[in-house]
Amino acid sequence: MSQSATNLAALLPGVGKTLVLEERAIPSPGPDEILIRNRAIALNPIDWKRQAFGIAVPSDRAIILGSDVAGEVVSVGSNIPSSLFTPGDRVLGSADGMMSGNPDHAAFQRYTIVSATSASKLPDTLSFPEAATLPTAFGTAVIALFHDLGLPLPTGPSTSKQNEKKGILVWGGATAVGSAAIQLARLAGLTVYATASPTHHARVRALGAAEAVDYRSAGPTSAADEILAAAGKTGVEIGYVLVAAGDKEVFAAVKQVLESSPRAGDGGKIKKVASLLPWPEEEVAKPEGAEVSWVRGMEMWRGRRDLSAWLNHQNLKGWLEKGEVEPHKVRVVQGGIGGLQAALDELKKGVSGEKLVVEP
Ligand SMILES: NC(=O)c1ccc[n+]([C@@H]2O[C@H](COP(=O)([O-])OP(=O)(O)OC[C@H]3O[C@@H](n4cnc5c(N)ncnc54)[C@H](OP(=O)(O)O)[C@@H]3O)[C@@H](O)[C@H]2O)c1
Repeated sequence: MSQSATNLAALLPGVGKTLVLEERAIPSPGPDEILIRNRAIALNPIDWKRQAFGIAVPSDRAIILGSDVAGEVVSVGSNIPSSLFTPGDRVLGSADGMMSGNPDHAAFQRYTIVSATSASKLPDTLSFPEAATLPTAFGTAVIALFHDLGLPLPTGPSTSKQNEKKGILVWGGATAVGSAAIQLARLAGLTVYATASPTHHARVRALGAAEAVDYRSAGPTSAADEILAAAGKTGVEIGYVLVAAGDKEVFAAVKQVLESSPRAGDGGKIKKVASLLPWPEEEVAKPEGAEVSWVRGMEMWRGRRDLSAWLNHQNLKGWLEKGEVEPHKVRVVQGGIGGLQAALDELKKGVSGEKLVVEP
């Protein structure tokens, strides 16, 4: 093992407790897994929510949080061909300790085990902090778009015309997941509409949105009117919505958009919402005639190995090399593993159009 071959980890001793640093053994990967020496760890909202609210936090033992890592492969399982991964490869990985309950699979430490299908090689030009912004954002967006919404997988050049009259609204285009979804939907050939604060409109358009609409200044209802007007002008029917952020007013606006697109998607047959948050049914009725699903990103990432391999082994590196997709904007929080608690506190306050990363 290379320099500093100790596995320093940030443990969560219990709900509402502060992270504490502890040395752990460096684990060995199972047959279908790889061990990564993390060089960057990115944070996700679920991390502070687990700490604050106890989501998937057992009462009888400390756990390790975190889902997103990038670093170098240290060792590979016995089933992994060298054509897929070898020691020394620069990779990103989606760590599923929250689902497996195994702390060796969690991100907030120097060494993490991930399933080989949840890892992708990286272009040389992509930094580890940039790479760490990708796993949960793209993994969740892939599940939302191609599992929950059932969109066609992108197969050809992004200029494909066959889906351009199909519209998708990404509510929360400046979120990490929303930014990934805009890019994937554009690659699938759909016309994308997004809401974001005005400071992010240029970026959201550069990622592939045909229109970016402010959800703040005039409120969600006006944003919905603007989106409908923009789609109407070009004959696009919005049959799909990804809700990446919002409150009950946002869900009411999403209902308005879908119910005002009477012939939405595929000649009136399709109206679908994939929401990263549960639809608040007691406060806002679901849109008439629409299928609404609550995206279960991590759960489905384990179930849809076909989609994870499609993203990680067939497409992501090439897209990044060609500039077809971009990582989220990064802000590195200082302090390495010891900086994770400050980063969680910062994320809980809210970030805008950026991903917090530490370098362990
Ligand atoms: N169900 C799942 O499987 C799953 C998976 C991943 C994440 N999530 C959840 O999905 C949400 C997004 O995660 P993330 O990591 O992508 O978030 P993030 O990047 O941390 O989101 C920050 C962004 O939220 C935007 N935002 C806040 N309120 C908004 C509103 N009312 N309308 C539009 N945008 C709004 C802000 O946009 P502006 O800067 O433009 O104001 C800000 O840039 C979180 O709640 C997370 O817990 C769920």
